[in-house]
Amino acid sequence: MEGNQKEPAVAVRDFQSVVEDDLKEFSRHFKAAMRVDHGLLNLVLQYFLRQKGKRIRPLLVLLTAKTCGGIRERSYRAAALVELLHTATLVHDDVVDKSEKRRGAFSINALWGNKVAVLLGDYFLSRGLLLALEHDDFDLLRVLSDAVKRMSEGELRQVQRARNMDIDEESYYRIISDKTASLLSACTRCGALSAGADDQSLKAMGEYGEQLGLAFQIRDDLFDFGTQEVGKPVGADLQKKLVTLPLIHALEVADPSERKRILRIIRRGKQSKESRQIILEFVESTGGLAYAQERMKDHVKAAQSLLEVFPDSEARRAMYALSHYVVSRKK
Ligand code: IPE
Ligand code: IPE
Ligand code: MG
Ligand code: MG
Repeated sequence: MEGNQKEPAVAVRDFQSVVEDDLKEFSRHFKAAMRVDHGLLNLVLQYFLRQKGKRIRPLLVLLTAKTCGGIRERSYRAAALVELLHTATLVHDDVVDKSEKRRGAFSINALWGNKVAVLLGDYFLSRGLLLALEHDDFDLLRVLSDAVKRMSEGELRQVQRARNMDIDEESYYRIISDKTASLLSACTRCGALSAGADDQSLKAMGEYGEQLGLAFQIRDDLFDFGTQEVGKPVGADLQKKLVTLPLIHALEVADPSERKRILRIIRRGKQSKESRQIILEFVESTGGLAYAQERMKDHVKAAQSLLEVFPDSEARRAMYALSHYVVSRKK
């Protein structure tokens, strides 16, 4: 399943160029927030900064601000803040998931151990909060603190869900909404707030971020069933007995004996190459992958329809392109 071959390819530059200079300004804010003179911390930070992520969240803040009236100084801060919080959660997530790889390189926990990774994640988080406080950005802080709270709740619920091997769609959606969509929605709301948007725009943009976030996480979960290089381990969710949307659907439509057989394999946790292959074939043949792709597209459509309330502009068009990219992205 390398999925979505039929989707028109959307290149990142299709939506980045609209805010190219603004992204550079964001980058300056982001780097400034990372400047420290402490030995070990500095070493770890420099290592981490070398592997840039896709920076979807700051981009989302800036494009939203531009669509809602214009980017201001506060928008750059909001963008730096969300990337700091996102980075904090990734560093922590790799400890929780015992993951050795991130952004195509060794994770912090793999190189320096869990202790350093937990402390570094906390450091990013506090830098983010301070950045907002230093400028009295209380409205942004309120939105983002709520997102951080929901992200932790989502991750905790996910641990419990894997333990119980919960396999219903409703609990899956609740988790991805909390752990991922909450932050993307916070990005769009902060972007809108930073541009002085009215309540109606704020609401529409918040919901756009939520829908985009759901699609984003479904895409991420689909990677786990693939073989392509995405800069982090694939097959990891399955090894952790984490049953995501493609498999949830496959189990739902399978006949009872097949379902029992597959559940037995998942329950074993760490799988051999052969058992992983059995699960992959099962998910493919029962239409689980196709189902998840359809759901993902539904969320993108929902996101796009929320943009209709805004007047046509270059920035709004870029937000359409961004939503296409979320489902067609290759990493
Ligand atoms: C990874 O986020 C975590 C998820 C919510 C799936 P990204 O895929 O945006 O990670 P980077 O920042 O580009 O590395
Ligand atoms: C991402 O979930 C949620 C976060 C808040 C970090 P995943 O565990 O699927 O993210 P990756 O796949 O490790 O990036
Ligand atoms: Mg993970
Ligand atoms: Mg993942």
